[in-house]
Amino acid sequence: MGAFEQLRGEHKVILEVAALMELLASDQDTPDRLRASMPELLDFLRTYVDRNHHAKEELALFPAMEVDPMLHALAEVLEAEHDEARRMLVLMEEAARDERAPLHNAALAYTAHMREHIAKENEMIFDAAERTLGTEQTNALEREFTDIEAAALAPGKLEELLAAIRKHC
Ligand SMILES: [Fe+2]
Ligand SMILES: [Fe+2]
Repeated sequence: MGAFEQLRGEHKVILEVAALMELLASDQDTPDRLRASMPELLDFLRTYVDRNHHAKEELALFPAMEVDPMLHALAEVLEAEHDEARRMLVLMEEAARDERAPLHNAALAYTAHMREHIAKENEMIFDAAERTLGTEQTNALEREFTDIEAAALAPGKLEELLAAIRKHC
């Protein structure tokens, strides 16, 4: 699978979990469902989104985008959005520990942010980056992704996380 195809595939998985998280956060009748599912959701967001997906972009893709001034500027915007996602994740982790904290709002803010960020990458930036980088550099990215993923995710970890999250829905 090509490097960009891989990132787009990961976006689909992330959006699927974001939709489940929104569903749980919007359930006014049984508000405890979101709180009960937080350990698994936070594990997914830390492990799959941050250590795997964002790491592939930050450690491999964004540095490769520095060859072109326009792409470099866009990579800086995306990286700042990853930092924002990390701050929102910390807020969610804090809210998950405190019964009185507005966990639902924190979860909805995170999913809205990720949805917007992914749309920007999918619809505006990846095509331009793929055209500029060309086949050889895109293949090099793919090899870097393999190493990053091996460091972030144990075999079967994603399937395990998704099964654990779906059990709450
Ligand atoms: Fe990103
Ligand atoms: Fe992404």
